[in-house]
Amino acid sequence: MSHTILVLNGPNLNLLGTREPGVYGTVTLAQIETQVQAEAAALHVAVRWLQSNHEGVLIDAIHAAVGTASGIVINPGAFTHYSIALRDAVSSVGLPTVEIHLSNVHAREAFRHVSVIAPVCLGQIAGFGADSYLLGLRAVVRHLTGGEMA
Ligand code: DQA
Repeated sequence: MSHTILVLNGPNLNLLGTREPGVYGTVTLAQIETQVQAEAAALHVAVRWLQSNHEGVLIDAIHAAVGTASGIVINPGAFTHYSIALRDAVSSVGLPTVEIHLSNVHAREAFRHVSVIAPVCLGQIAGFGADSYLLGLRAVVRHLTGGEMA
């Protein structure tokens, strides 16, 4: 059976490439998507990719994943730290979800140390740049296929 994974990107991630390159590097979101689509092909899954700066659009996409996707990889951006609505959307649909971050949020400002979303996810991957996306995809696919992380 083939799986579709929804990959969600929150606010300001459309600016990757020029946004705070000292923190996030110079890779663009389009370049990350290319890498993720290649990894998905290697894992024999499909990826549906979305970026939005709007909380409600992300929530609608999570709701729409029911019946159309097997799992979710989400970089919620700053919503990570305070969006109970996004957390409730993830816990409401019950799809296996992995939270990811480009930067190591735990090594940054104190307000980034808290994620209100991670507790309703399988886990969190942070600090590996674009590789966080690839690791997150692998983690959710491994979960779905009953394997272990290599
Ligand atoms: C981020 C970390 C968040 O704290 C920040 O608000 C972002 C990006 C990351 O990928 O490192 O927008 O989610």
